[in-house]
Amino acid sequence: MSRELMQQRIEQAQIETEQKKEMVQAGPMRQHYHFMPQTGWLNDPNGLIFYKGKYHFFYQWNPYSGFWDSMHWGHAVSEDLLHWEYLPLALAPSEEYDDYRKGGCFSGSAIVHEGKLFLMYTGVTNRGSGNIQTQCIAYSEDGIHFEKYEGNPVILPPEGVDGQHFRDPKIWKHKDSYYMVCGASCNNRAQALLFRSEDMLHWTYVNVLAESRGEWGYMWECPDFYPLEDKYVLMCSPMGAGDRKAVYFVGDFDYDTGRFDWDLSGEIDWGMDFYAPQSFEAPDGRRLIAAWANEWECMPFWKDWGPTYREGWCGFFNLLREVRMLPDHTLQFVPVKELQKLREEEYCEDRIELEDAKEKELRAGDGISFEMQFAIDLEETQAEKIELDLRCGEGRQTRCMIDLRQGTLSVDRSGADGWSAGVSRSVLFLKGKKELDIHVFSDQSSVEIFADQYQNNHANNIYAGNGQNRILIRAAGGRAVIRGYRSYGLKECFR
Ligand code: FRU
Repeated sequence: MSRELMQQRIEQAQIETEQKKEMVQAGPMRQHYHFMPQTGWLNDPNGLIFYKGKYHFFYQWNPYSGFWDSMHWGHAVSEDLLHWEYLPLALAPSEEYDDYRKGGCFSGSAIVHEGKLFLMYTGVTNRGSGNIQTQCIAYSEDGIHFEKYEGNPVILPPEGVDGQHFRDPKIWKHKDSYYMVCGASCNNRAQALLFRSEDMLHWTYVNVLAESRGEWGYMWECPDFYPLEDKYVLMCSPMGAGDRKAVYFVGDFDYDTGRFDWDLSGEIDWGMDFYAPQSFEAPDGRRLIAAWANEWECMPFWKDWGPTYREGWCGFFNLLREVRMLPDHTLQFVPVKELQKLREEEYCEDRIELEDAKEKELRAGDGISFEMQFAIDLEETQAEKIELDLRCGEGRQTRCMIDLRQGTLSVDRSGADGWSAGVSRSVLFLKGKKELDIHVFSDQSSVEIFADQYQNNHANNIYAGNGQNRILIRAAGGRAVIRGYRSYGLKECFR
């Protein structure tokens, strides 16, 4: 009976999508090369996996409007991580444990077990006394059509865990066992809980993998845990931890005790639009992450989700990033090399000298959909500040300010488009460095700035019009020297 209900809901959502997709795809604010849904609202990346020769991306999706509501799982596949084919929805709310308008099929992950593609997701229901979150399984033989397990839910919140904050399972395999980490809240403190299973269906609670003592918030959304080099990395999006939206911890892990002993933490992105990153392993061993390019209304930076709902959609993923570890165990988040295939119209200048207080125009593609890379020569530069204005025109701009004296990078989008607001800021540690590397990706409705070895990154959405296509740079308080300027236009993948 309920198998039919899920099928009906999937078909209903498909009909809705077919009817609206052409109109939505004509929207002037649609991205050119960032992953986004055909229509409707998208948030977290879910179930990222390479399966039977293709990358599978699932995502939190409301196909019915440009706002969050009753969560479904959208699904798309790709062979190159750039061009995507949309498949029928994988999951729709249909069961007593996941059929709730302000709930549904929440975030989760994918794994291959006995040749089948298994999904574990959080079912969210409400029996009149608040949300009830449990972990549930669905599986598929062909990787397209999924069936929910009749023994769902497979995991209930352990003793003491708030049943309204028990979600986002991330599964992996180690030796012959499966492990899962999910976010939880216990006595108002965030936790990552560890579970184990031998058969994917029966799960036992191991213990608390890591927890906040208050300083890291009251709930960790979308925790992810994976080995990198000879260490383990925990990532999550903490709720109640100030401006932080996506953080990482690096440490050692002991499978016997289930304890993660971390001694290093960092920010994956300092911008206003980077949330709930999920990782997966590419066939060549790279650890890649995708994230939702936005954040929730409870976060301090939040303004709103942008004006794209007027075009019948909202939400895209940030550029895929490869996670790399430096010798001091800090992490770099480098845009994937696949993006290089989108490059066209290369433009280079070996050396650019900026006189104090003089402005120079930079060339990069059409000034809207482009990539640029350069280094500030810190030995030859006397300037105190360097300002890079992106998407300028019609009296507007997004200003990227590098303050070499104070050691800060800030991105001010308050003049971007008459809609956006806010300044994202990060600390730049430049002492002893010879140069500062900058890498910018601009798309129709976002700018992503990577600085200082891809450790100082800012993802911000902006909704600038096509008349805003100039790029200006200037130095203040002395002259500046830029080396190795390279830029490219970037080809469209989504129209
Ligand atoms: C994170 C999140 C998850 C939840 C999902 C609901 O962005 O809040 O914790 O599973 O979104 O759509």
